Amino acid sequence: MTTNNGVLKFAYWVPNVSGGLVISKIPQRTSWDIDYNRRLAQIAEDSGFDYALSQIRFTAGYGAEFQHEPVAFSHALLAATKKLKVIAALLPGPWNPAVAAKQIATISQLTEGRVAVNIVSGWFRGEFAAIGEPWLDHDKRYRRSEEFVRALRGIWTQDSFTFRGDFYRFTDYSLKPKPAEPLPEIFQGGSSRAARDMAARVSDWYFTNGNSVEGIKAQVDDIRTKARANNHSVKIGVNAFAIARNSEAEARSVIDEIIAKADPEAVNAFGHEVKNAGKASPEGEGNWAKSSFEDLVQYNDGFKTNLIGTPQQIAERIIALKDVGVDLVLLGFLHFQEEVEYFGKHVIPLVRELEAKRAVRVQAAE
Ligand SMILES: Cc1cc2nc3c(=O)[nH]c(=O)nc-3n(C[C@H](O)[C@H](O)[C@H](O)COP(=O)(O)O)c2cc1C
Repeated sequence: MTTNNGVLKFAYWVPNVSGGLVISKIPQRTSWDIDYNRRLAQIAEDSGFDYALSQIRFTAGYGAEFQHEPVAFSHALLAATKKLKVIAALLPGPWNPAVAAKQIATISQLTEGRVAVNIVSGWFRGEFAAIGEPWLDHDKRYRRSEEFVRALRGIWTQDSFTFRGDFYRFTDYSLKPKPAEPLPEIFQGGSSRAARDMAARVSDWYFTNGNSVEGIKAQVDDIRTKARANNHSVKIGVNAFAIARNSEAEARSVIDEIIAKADPEAVNAFGHEVKNAGKASPEGEGNWAKSSFEDLVQYNDGFKTNLIGTPQQIAERIIALKDVGVDLVLLGFLHFQEEVEYFGKHVIPLVRELEAKRAVRVQAAE
């Protein structure tokens, strides 16, 4: 069995695009503007969150009518905080690794090494068409992303970096200054075979959509087995949409209302787009391959992880994720500022208590 004996990390989705994280007309007290987000980042770091994850979207579609650019936005959040790490999303294609490596190295220098990156491989064909970017087939997108990661790491760690890839080429390139220590961590998302294989070769972190504990366990075991064979180690982050309330009934009534007020046209159009993008993966195991209408109301299957209930129920389910090898839980909320604070006050301390008890058990068993 894969066990994780470290301390679980918590991340939240930065609402840098409008409309929140559910495709629903339920009222949300979440804003995509910078003042709201600066305050949110401060609340998050004071509430025990380790990371904030920004999103890259070039165009509207299925909500997200307005979208702030994630690298600039991440820097603004870093400037407003003291210890939070902010993960800037990068999309190979529009981003070239030389520009990205330099941008992120500068931000790292300016923020004592608190910036990280999430390499996104893309699912939104219409977005690529809108900005005139060629749309590569599924596995080719991941081959390009893997080269992108190899290039970033090479540029950040070597002088006279030379690389001959199918997508990128470097000759005796020396970036100065390099990023501050610690080097920016490299996250990557997906669920398909290509996504997992890339994580098992090059990424520091693998982010996946929400899923049941069994579904997550299958992915973790698969990736860790492959990573071991590659002499690589990769940490795992899982998405979840958290609804923590004083009673389970109250929490359940919130998810029922989110789904009842879902925008069916937008959810179905989003489902069509992402299933197409995932189906293109030869084995048909892409991120949204098995998502139902209800699952798709949250962009990254966050309801499936079932962090919906009382703080105690949620903390126990988080420990169950840890038991199958998860290192980080990425969270979305309906009303971000209030709910990040509530989560930090009522759920994280319970997780820490359960982690301490678990550590004693594990030690006794050894
Ligand atoms: C946690 C997480 C964050 C993601 N962030 C973005 C994003 O900001 N923009 C984007 O276009 N895609 C984003 N993606 C999508 C992935 O990069 C990838 O294109 C998608 O998961 C397809 O996966 P598949 O190969 O399993 O089909 C994200 C995925 C995950 C799991």
